[in-house]
Amino acid sequence: MAGFWTLMPSRLLFVVGLLLLDTTSSFVSAAGSSVHHNPLTGEAMNFFGTRSPPKNATVNKYLPKPSNDSWYKPPGGWETAKPGAVLRTRAHAYPTINIRNAIDTFQVLYRTTDSRNNASWSVATVFIPKSHENCTLPTTSPAYNASACSHGIVAYEVPSDSADPDAAPSYLLQMREPYGEMRDMLARGWFVMVPDYEGPGASFCAGVQAGHATLDASRAVLSIAGQFGLQMDKVKLGLWGYSGGAFAAEFAAELAASYAPDLRIDASVIGGSSPNLTTVDERMNSKDTAGLVVTSILGITVQQPEARAFLLRQLHPTGPYNATGFMNATTMTGADALDAYSGQNVFDYFVNGQADWANPAMQDVINTDAVMGLHGVPNMPSFYYKAEHDEMSPVNETAAIVEKFCSQGANILFHRNTLGGHNDELWSGRLRALEYLSAKLNGYGNITIPETGCQTVDVTIPLDPLYLLPDWWWTEGPGAGLGLAGAG
Ligand SMILES: *[C@@H]1O[C@H](CO)[C@@H](O)[C@H](O)[C@H]1NC(C)=O
Ligand SMILES: *[C@@H]1O[C@H](CO)[C@@H](O)[C@H](O)[C@H]1NC(C)=O
Ligand SMILES: *[C@@H]1O[C@H](CO)[C@@H](O)[C@H](O)[C@H]1NC(C)=O
Ligand SMILES: *[C@@H]1O[C@H](CO)[C@@H](O)[C@H](O)[C@H]1NC(C)=O
Ligand SMILES: *[C@@H]1O[C@H](CO)[C@@H](O)[C@H](O)[C@H]1NC(C)=O
Ligand SMILES: *[C@@H]1O[C@H](CO)[C@@H](O)[C@H](O)[C@H]1NC(C)=O
Ligand SMILES: *[C@@H]1O[C@H](CO)[C@@H](O)[C@H](O)[C@H]1NC(C)=O
Ligand SMILES: *[C@@H]1O[C@H](CO)[C@@H](O)[C@H](O)[C@H]1NC(C)=O
Ligand SMILES: *[C@@H]1O[C@H](CO)[C@@H](O)[C@H](O)[C@H]1NC(C)=O
Ligand SMILES: *[C@@H]1O[C@H](CO)[C@@H](O)[C@H](O)[C@H]1NC(C)=O
Repeated sequence: MAGFWTLMPSRLLFVVGLLLLDTTSSFVSAAGSSVHHNPLTGEAMNFFGTRSPPKNATVNKYLPKPSNDSWYKPPGGWETAKPGAVLRTRAHAYPTINIRNAIDTFQVLYRTTDSRNNASWSVATVFIPKSHENCTLPTTSPAYNASACSHGIVAYEVPSDSADPDAAPSYLLQMREPYGEMRDMLARGWFVMVPDYEGPGASFCAGVQAGHATLDASRAVLSIAGQFGLQMDKVKLGLWGYSGGAFAAEFAAELAASYAPDLRIDASVIGGSSPNLTTVDERMNSKDTAGLVVTSILGITVQQPEARAFLLRQLHPTGPYNATGFMNATTMTGADALDAYSGQNVFDYFVNGQADWANPAMQDVINTDAVMGLHGVPNMPSFYYKAEHDEMSPVNETAAIVEKFCSQGANILFHRNTLGGHNDELWSGRLRALEYLSAKLNGYGNITIPETGCQTVDVTIPLDPLYLLPDWWWTEGPGAGLGLAGAG
C-alpha cells in the first residue's frame, strides 16, 4: 500500500480532492446531528465506540474476548494488594496491531478501587511508539540513542460508552482506534496508555470508578514502563480524554490529590466534557445518541444494587420498549448501542416514563458518581476545550466547573470554540490538545498557556474536513509528515 501511494502522488491528490468535496457535503448535511458518517465507507463515525472485531477474526490473530480470556482473572489474594499494584503483565500483548505508529504493546492487570471504595482490578494497555524500536537495546549498542527515547506517556481515555465488559478498550483496540488521536501521540514519540476505566463490570459513567482506575493504571504502568524503554529519570505523565473519555480524565484529575497524592501528573486535557449525566442524558435522548442513555443507565447502576433493582422493577415487562430490549445493551459496544436505540425515547422503557428517571433512586447515584466538580480540585495544569454550541452538554456547565476549580487555585487554560458542535470540536481541538501535551511533556508547544491561575479564551476554529480523512492519508498518503501526525 505504502509503495502504491508513494508512486502515484498526483493521482492520489486528485482522488483526495474528490473525497474532500464529499467530506464537506457530508459534514454540512450532518450539521446539528451527533453522528457523522465516514464519507468513504458510509460507516457511522460516532464518537463513542470502536467497531466490533471483523467477523472472520481468527483466534490467533486477535486476543480472545475478556470474558473468555483467563489472563483477565486476577491472581488469588489480589484484594489485599495496594491500589496501583501490578498483579500481572503480558509483554507483546497484541498478536496484531492495527494502530499506526505503534511498534508493540504490553498489558498490565492492576489493583484498583471501585466507586464504593471496594477493592477492584482493571487492565491497562500500553502502546509503544515506533520511534522506540531501539530503546530496549543495551545502552552500549550503536543503535541505542537515548535522545530518541521518550520520557512522555499519556493516559488516553477511549470513550468506550458501553455497558459490555467485552467492549473494553484492551480488547477492542486490537481492531483499530476510534479517531486517530493515538496515532498522532505515537507519532510524537509518546507512550500511549489506555486504561479500561469502566472496570470489570463495565460501569460506564461511574465517575469515581473511572478516576480511580485511571490513577491506578498510571501508578501500575509507571512502576514497570522503564523495562519497556520509557526514560524514567525524566518521565512526564499526561491525561487526555474527549466526551466519554473526558468523563474519565476529569474524574482522575479531580480525584488525584486525595486518592493518589504520590502520583505526579504533568497535564490533563479535558475536551467536550459533560459535567452532569442528568443534563447530558436528557439532551441525548430521542436522538441518534439515545443508545448512550441506555448504556449510561446500565453503567451507572452496575455497582449500585438498589438502583439496579429499582431499574429492573420499573422496566416494562412487555410491549415494544421492554426490559429484554433494554438489557440487550449489556452485550453491545457503544457503536452498536447507538445503532440499536437511535431515535428512541428511552423513558418509554419505564412504567412511569421520565418520572422513574427523575426518581431519587436513580438521581442519587448520578449526583454522587456522575457529576463533576464534587470530588476535589485538579492538582496539575489542565487544558479544557469545548464548543460553545456543544449540543450534548451546555458550555456553561463546563465553565462553572472551571470557575469553581479556579477559585480554589487550579491552573487551567479554557478554550471555548465559537464554531461547531460536540463532534466537530473533537477534531478541531485535537491539534491544540496535542500542542498542550507537548508543552507539558516535552517543554515546547505552539499554544499560549498561563503559568499560574486561569485563562479563558474564545477561539474561532473551523472544522478542517481534512481531519475526517482516514489514517492512511496522514501516515502513508500525502498527509505523511504534515499537520497532525508528523508535527512536533
Ligand atoms: C476478513 O474480511 C475482510 C472484509 O470482509 C477482508 O478484507 C479480509 O481479508 C478478511 N481477512 C481474512 C484473514 O480472511
Ligand atoms: C473461547 O475461547 C476458545 C479458545 O480458547 C474458543 O474455542 C471458544 O470459541 C471461545 N468462546 C467464545 C464464547 O468466544
Ligand atoms: C462494597 O461496598 C458496599 C458499601 O460500602 C458494601 O455494602 C458491599 O457489601 C461491598 N461489596 C463487596 C463485594 O465487597
Ligand atoms: C534503530 O536502529 C537501526 C539500526 O541502526 C536503524 O536502522 C533504525 O533507523 C533505528 N530506528 C530508529 C527509530 O531510530
Ligand atoms: C538521536 O536521536 C535524536 C532525536 O531523535 C536525533 O536528532 C539524532 O540525530 C539521533 N542520533 C543518532 C546518532 O542517530
Ligand atoms: C445535575 O443537573 C440536573 C439538571 O440537569 C440537576 O437537577 C442536578 O441538581 C444536577 N446535579 C448536581 C449534583 O448539581
Ligand atoms: C420486547 O421487545 C422486543 C423489541 O421490540 C420485541 O421483539 C419483543 O417481542 C418484546 N417482548 C415482549 C415480551 O413483549
Ligand atoms: C437485541 O439486539 C440485537 C442486535 O441489535 C437485535 O437483533 C435483537 O432484536 C435485540 N433483541 C431485543 C429483544 O430487542
Ligand atoms: C446554563 O444555562 C441554562 C440555560 O441558560 C440554565 O438553565 C442553567 O442553569 C445554566 N447552568 C449553569 C451551571 O450555569
Ligand atoms: C501556531 O498556531 C497558530 C494558531 O493556532 C497557527 O496560526 C500557526 O500556524 C502555528 N504555528 C506553527 C509553527 O505551527
